[in-house]
Amino acid sequence: MLVLGIESSCDETGLALYDTNRGLLAHALHSQIVLHAEYGGVVPELASRDHIRRLVPLLREALRQGGAALSEVDAVACTQGPGLAGALLVGCAFAEGLAVSLGKSVLPVHHLEGHLLSPLLAADAPEFPFIALLVSGGHTQLMAVTDVGQYELLGETLDDAAGEAFDKTAKLLGLGYPGGQALSQLAEAGRPGVFNLPRPMLHSGDFNFSFAGLKTAVLTLVRKAGDGMDDTFRADVARAFQEALVEVLTKKSCAALKQTGMRRLVVAGGVGANRPLRQSLNAAAAHQGCRVYYPALEFCTDNGAMIAFAGAMRLKAGAIPRPAGAFAVRPRWPLSELMR
Ligand code: KG4
Ligand code: ZN
Repeated sequence: MLVLGIESSCDETGLALYDTNRGLLAHALHSQIVLHAEYGGVVPELASRDHIRRLVPLLREALRQGGAALSEVDAVACTQGPGLAGALLVGCAFAEGLAVSLGKSVLPVHHLEGHLLSPLLAADAPEFPFIALLVSGGHTQLMAVTDVGQYELLGETLDDAAGEAFDKTAKLLGLGYPGGQALSQLAEAGRPGVFNLPRPMLHSGDFNFSFAGLKTAVLTLVRKAGDGMDDTFRADVARAFQEALVEVLTKKSCAALKQTGMRRLVVAGGVGANRPLRQSLNAAAAHQGCRVYYPALEFCTDNGAMIAFAGAMRLKAGAIPRPAGAFAVRPRWPLSELMR
């Protein structure tokens, strides 16, 4: 079965082809980062309009890469939610139109399921069961995953997501949007131990997170520094922020491994690209006899490959795609509703 995947939930347009026998054949991506950078964040209406512009050229590009004809596509998987309503509508309307014209069916995909299954695209893929740490711009969750569609939420952030905390802190330090990667680069020049920031909810005894206080602690430092905010100060603060966030994510992930007795940790979402986080998780997991799996860097952030793949996994697991026709998007869609 050849599945065309379409991702348009936020500021990336991604199209990909996944064959249930041959694997990933193609993936084409356009990031809108430059478009939104001057506004300091994603502007939903601009995102929707840009998705409209990009879909057809990216579809052509994916078909060219995969050496496939549109008529060979067996099902169209598209992100139905969660995400920006207008952006989701563009991708889903496009998927629906394609499916109608081809006489094929549609597979609505949950964006977070795409993220958490994305490490399975790698050649050295983890087996079930595993703990998934989902750390993106909009979500921070720990889940126990026993199979496709079997996701038990262990804990999540009570306020800001990890990526959101990175982006907001980056903004406070005068970096552009999205600031996660830039903040991480700045932190490389920072000295350890200059500032000691709080580790929110580290000892809460559950798997929930809270990062808003960490961001506020940075804000307090920045206000205190006033005009004295030079490059050394910014690098030291970036380092302290990253260390605090990495420690909390690492300790809670390891506690989830320990409590469930699982031996594999899968990390997905944009913050999973963070190098110090990877180093810390690898070392801590190895210490308790566990292993960490990551998607390829290009699949950490939003992309069409993970949507095509999640759709294909659903097909393999016996999901029945629905005929094209009436459709709806789900800007807010709890992952727990996917439980079979
Ligand atoms: O998964 P993603 O593409 O989007 C959502 O679905 O939300 O993740 C984007 C987030 C942004 O907040 C970005 O700043 C963060 O991932 N990010 C990073 C790094 N690369 C991307 N955060 C920390 N370190 C990085 N290297
Ligand atoms: Zn995402």
